[in-house]
Amino acid sequence: MELTARLRALADLVPQGARLADVGTDHAYLPVWLILHGKIQQAIAADLREGPLARARETARQYQVEERISFRLCDGLTAVYSHEVDAVAIAGMGGDTIAAILDAAPWTKGKRLLLQPMTAWPSLRAWLQSNGYQIEAERLAREGSRLYSVWSVTGGAMAPLTLAELWVGKQQKADPLRGPYLEKMAGKVRRALSGHLVSRQRDEGQIQMLTEVLQGIEEMQKEL
Ligand SMILES: C[S@@+](CC[C@H](N)C(=O)[O-])C[C@H]1O[C@@H](n2cnc3c(N)ncnc32)[C@H](O)[C@@H]1O
Repeated sequence: MELTARLRALADLVPQGARLADVGTDHAYLPVWLILHGKIQQAIAADLREGPLARARETARQYQVEERISFRLCDGLTAVYSHEVDAVAIAGMGGDTIAAILDAAPWTKGKRLLLQPMTAWPSLRAWLQSNGYQIEAERLAREGSRLYSVWSVTGGAMAPLTLAELWVGKQQKADPLRGPYLEKMAGKVRRALSGHLVSRQRDEGQIQMLTEVLQGIEEMQKEL
């Protein structure tokens, strides 16, 4: 089994021997790959919906690791318990959904979290910061023209972040994909800013915020 670059970046951040819960597992490629490669011995694969969980079971059956995985049909971590896991992966979901899942399971502050939000990066970073979590490492992964940011998070105090750092993070400064990532994020902010500037109902607060974010990202690009 080959993992995509995004899932491989997540896999690399899973601690050796961890008891992993993969929330929103869908096809369960992450836990199955980790078991096949001897990085973990067992896992919980959880999903909100029957269809994805059936896919997860099918992958586990195909690779003959079904007995090593406990399958849970549940919203977030509602059927996963603190004493069962050392690490929790939540990938391929919106940042707001990830924040809601963690909010409902405060025990996750005592675990290693591997997060890969598809959207709402600034609000998820801000949520983590104000709820007692810190981002210890970030990795970037490229799949075709898409770039993904993968975070390793634990409980603890996160150093203050500038507005631009809330958008693009500050834990992947040495990553070879940092340049393309900053360019991509600057493009997103420019497009959002242009939308606000031509809007009939100008939101001056948003315009000021996005302008500051863009200036911050451009500074980071100069420093690179
Ligand atoms: C795009 S897939 C991501 C699959 C895999 N984690 C990955 O990154 O490749 C998102 C999965 O999350 C599940 N999901 C969405 N909201 C969820 C929630 N609140 N709790 C558990 N699973 C959820 C969906 O059913 C879907 O299977």
